[in-house]
Amino acid sequence: MTRATPWCMLAFRMERAATVATKDYERPEITVHWDSSRCIHTAICLRALPEVFDVDRRPWIDVEAASPEAVADAVMRCPTGALRFTAAALTEPAPPSTAMRPVRGGPMVVRGDVQIVDAEGNLIARETRVTLCRCGNSGNQPFCDNSHRRAGFDEPEIRAPRTAEAPDDICAPQPGFRGDT
Ligand code: SF4
Ligand code: FES
Repeated sequence: MTRATPWCMLAFRMERAATVATKDYERPEITVHWDSSRCIHTAICLRALPEVFDVDRRPWIDVEAASPEAVADAVMRCPTGALRFTAAALTEPAPPSTAMRPVRGGPMVVRGDVQIVDAEGNLIARETRVTLCRCGNSGNQPFCDNSHRRAGFDEPEIRAPRTAEAPDDICAPQPGFRGDT
């Protein structure tokens, strides 16, 4: 996938809208948005810019404590999309390609030009960073909400591929697919 085809991306059909619980932290040059429903406490932001992101302080984000460029750079390191920003002079570029990386015992980390649609196909989010639930326990599907920790999610055993002559030899048809994404 390339920047020339920005809408060629992943799409997820959801039965209900994801939770959004966003707080804003503002200064004239930049506003940081934090969606607590998407934060799984990776602490990447805390390590990237500790003078701005400090969980021992309230508010925990001091957007004045570094340059707008440094704040934006730290925000873009957040793998879940819990942190985003809006700024007149800064934009977050979409990655030139889309990559998915499973975290062992945790979510699927996706970076790219990703659109998420509801069950009717309506676009509800277009983002560059998301972490998707692999354990099935998230209350904020399709996003990970850290429920994999509470559920003790572990990786399934790696099994040898089965031989099959046709899809029905593998499993019954999957319900809920409409054939286009
Ligand atoms: S980097 Fe994102 S997910 Fe990780 S603690 Fe910071 S806001 Fe939360
Ligand atoms: S993988 Fe994190 S809640 Fe499912």
